[in-house]
Amino acid sequence: MKIVETENLTRIYGSGEAQVNALDGVSLHVDTGEFVAVMGPSGCGKSTLLHLVGGLDRPSKGVVKIEGQDLSNLNDDDLTDLRREHIGFIFQFFNLIPTLSALDNTALPLVLGGMKPGDAQAKAAEWLAKLEVADRSTHRPEELSGGQRQRVAIARSLVTDPTLILADEPTGNLDSKAAQEFAALLREIVDRWERSILLVTHDPRISSYADRILQMKDGRITEQTENKRKGGNHA
Ligand SMILES: Nc1ncnc2c1ncn2[C@@H]1O[C@H](COP(=O)(O)OP(=O)(O)OP(=O)(O)O)[C@@H](O)[C@H]1O
Ligand SMILES: [Mg+2]
Repeated sequence: MKIVETENLTRIYGSGEAQVNALDGVSLHVDTGEFVAVMGPSGCGKSTLLHLVGGLDRPSKGVVKIEGQDLSNLNDDDLTDLRREHIGFIFQFFNLIPTLSALDNTALPLVLGGMKPGDAQAKAAEWLAKLEVADRSTHRPEELSGGQRQRVAIARSLVTDPTLILADEPTGNLDSKAAQEFAALLREIVDRWERSILLVTHDPRISSYADRILQMKDGRITEQTENKRKGGNHA
């Protein structure tokens, strides 16, 4: 099943001489249980693409479908619900809330979705355990290592059981060992829990864990590579 499908996706910023065609007719899909990496030079439209796919921004032209649902048919409230229920975001700097414990950071998307705090914390604790950071539940982000913060950010992105995870340069500020551990963890999430991932990265060692790599340039997809072995060629 296609979790994500875009057709001729276009995003134009500004107008006149200041006009930027950030995204220029991108058609792509991500299947269930598929890990797709997007690569390309700075400014080529990668973040713009993720924002449109995640319903954080609206296209100038073209279509985004999530699980067959055309996002242009949804009003802002429905879009918020769809994001909350189906999509997990991991951002470059993880965006953990500094004053909240790892447990409360992880529980937050459920609490915002209206779940009782106790139930949300129980679910959050399960995910922190799956990601092997249960013993850091009471720590605030500043008391965690970079790798532990990452795991908390992943736990938070998975706590709502999203079918789709969108990750924008999530390894941008990590050393190469931590970045590879992170990629391996995402691979495991796709394989064990049948999630789909669309991930932006500059790092070929990270994209080697993906099933497919899309190369972008000037707002377009210029090349597509299938990684040889299902599960990535990261031997
Ligand atoms: N709000 C905005 N207004 C005007 N132009 C924008 C806006 N956001 C992005 N752009 C432009 O759109 C283009 C694509 O930006 P985008 O952030 O998608 O690039 P990117 O591929 O994610 O780059 P990077 O690797 O540096 O994060 C760039 O030329 C950028 O300057
Ligand atoms: Mg970007």
